[in-house]
Amino acid sequence: MRRFDGLAVFVSGATGGFGVGIAEAFAREGARLLLTDIDADRLGDLAARLERDGADVALIAGDVTDERHFADVSALAEERFGGLDIAVNNAGIVHPPKRLAEVTADEAMRVVMVDLLGVFLAMKQQLAGMEARFRATGRPAAIVNIASVAGLRGAPMLSVYAAAKHGVVGLTRSAAAEYARRGIRINAVCPAFARTPMALDEIAGGGPDAEAQMVRGIPMRRLGEVAEVVSAVLFAADPVNGFMTGAALPVDGGLAAI
Ligand SMILES: NC(=O)c1ccc[n+]([C@@H]2O[C@H](COP(=O)([O-])OP(=O)(O)OC[C@H]3O[C@@H](n4cnc5c(N)ncnc54)[C@H](O)[C@@H]3O)[C@@H](O)[C@H]2O)c1
Repeated sequence: MRRFDGLAVFVSGATGGFGVGIAEAFAREGARLLLTDIDADRLGDLAARLERDGADVALIAGDVTDERHFADVSALAEERFGGLDIAVNNAGIVHPPKRLAEVTADEAMRVVMVDLLGVFLAMKQQLAGMEARFRATGRPAAIVNIASVAGLRGAPMLSVYAAAKHGVVGLTRSAAAEYARRGIRINAVCPAFARTPMALDEIAGGGPDAEAQMVRGIPMRRLGEVAEVVSAVLFAADPVNGFMTGAALPVDGGLAAI
């Protein structure tokens, strides 16, 4: 018996640095997958690869800022899997690192739309479906939101991203209390910089000393590895972990501790 045998797991932003790792790990542990991303080509390639390895995969490309996308996701989840057991809201973007006054209103709006409104729209559909199923069958469910350590403390040069991720932590904690007796656990995973293209290229701007710059403030003085973040996501999602809800788990080499 594998850890997530037969459970239906949704992952957004599935073709990104964390998304691929999360999808692969759940597939290895026996889950059935509903994968989404805005990039339809990469999504098709990922699904084909996972299916070759024996996974049961449904996919639907779309934009997390579009409420209709989540209605389609919900209908597909119902049709293929009879609803979702676990949802991992992982899609996200950053704005270019700069002081607050230099961030354009368009950049700020897009980050808030994708990182905060996108998680709200996802949870709105997921909670309705999960609650209805819990009432009908008593089957529990879990949501894991990928926030950031920037959702727990200030992030100089990433102010709007930090504000949006604080918002994700706020949604997580509030909804966790609202749904605590309705069969749904809701937690957030809060990574510091991990070794993905988002961190190395978009935030640090690539270059030979990008990594050294990023780890300066982290007590462990290194980047996180994708596998370390994935492991926290599976921990938060695991039905065995049934008493944990409303947590914002730092996976950050000690950064949130100082
Ligand atoms: N990489 C890090 O160091 C780090 C640290 C803390 C938090 N995070 C968070 O982890 C999550 C994943 O980040 P990542 O490093 O894998 O980034 P990534 O850029 O590799 O992946 C993000 C994925 O989201 C998808 N996406 C972007 N906008 C979308 C939209 N509007 N609709 C649907 N899909 C969209 C992209 O196509 C991509 O596949 C994000 O929420 C990010 O903020 C990342």
